[in-house]
Amino acid sequence: MWRVLLEPYALAVEELKVKFEHMKEAYRKAGLYSPIELVDGRVKSISSILEKAQKKHIQLDDIESQIDDIAGMRIICQFIEDIYTVAELIRKRSDMKVVEELDYVKNTKASGYRSYHMVIQYRVETLQGPKDIYAEIQIRTLAMNFWATIEHSLQYKYKQNMPEMLRMRLLKAAEAIVVLDREMSLVRNEIMDAQNTFTVKSRIVADILNNIQNLYKVANKREVIKIQDEFFRIYEGEDLESLQQFAKELDVISEGYRAQSLG
Ligand code: GTP
Ligand code: MG
Repeated sequence: MWRVLLEPYALAVEELKVKFEHMKEAYRKAGLYSPIELVDGRVKSISSILEKAQKKHIQLDDIESQIDDIAGMRIICQFIEDIYTVAELIRKRSDMKVVEELDYVKNTKASGYRSYHMVIQYRVETLQGPKDIYAEIQIRTLAMNFWATIEHSLQYKYKQNMPEMLRMRLLKAAEAIVVLDREMSLVRNEIMDAQNTFTVKSRIVADILNNIQNLYKVANKREVIKIQDEFFRIYEGEDLESLQQFAKELDVISEGYRAQSLG
């Protein structure tokens, strides 16, 4: 019975993982900075579902309608700003219907917990036809995730009896995380620039090397070696614009050979 109940949720988690990973790749492939750094997902364990049902006085028949985090996704971002970008990406999708949003980034929980929560309605196709299920998406920064992971394992260890001293320490650590996220936001533009430049540069270099390799097949060897030496010289110069210019010139040369071979 549980296996049948959980199957659509497992499917949803797998699909959502693919979709969010793909978003991340789409940014990378366009040479853009991705607001998504990491994607994770899980189906709640049977024992956790039962525990929650008991705690919240939910009848077994109402589990699917009352427990909205049987399917759980976690999206980790580098910067606070990215959290809101990701939330907007989700709101704009036609395959995810947002039914609840909780901003624990702006409204920190008493424990010190921070994260942006969304509950979505998501449709999966089963052998019995379409089925709409709920999934919870937690969006947080790397720093928030670090804190939440540690705090969660301590909560698990102490259950309701977390020593006061430890609770205070965790609150202090949470404050430090706020400061860290804020400091990181201040250098965000610098970091984004560095990451963009890096992807742009590696794409240009890949294009150039590919062109040179093709030229080896059609052009005069000595000519190609000269081009290759020129590439190394420019590459060592570490100037992105010169590299871009060189890539363009090389394109023209390659195009010339291609035209010749066709003619
Ligand atoms: P539940 O769904 O029963 O947890 O209650 P709720 O709907 O009020 O949940 P809420 O949106 O506050 O939290 C849902 C999830 O966020 C939890 O299952 C945790 O994964 C995470 N979370 C919430 N509060 C904390 C916290 O204080 N510490 C940690 N580590 N995680 C938290
Ligand atoms: Mg919840």
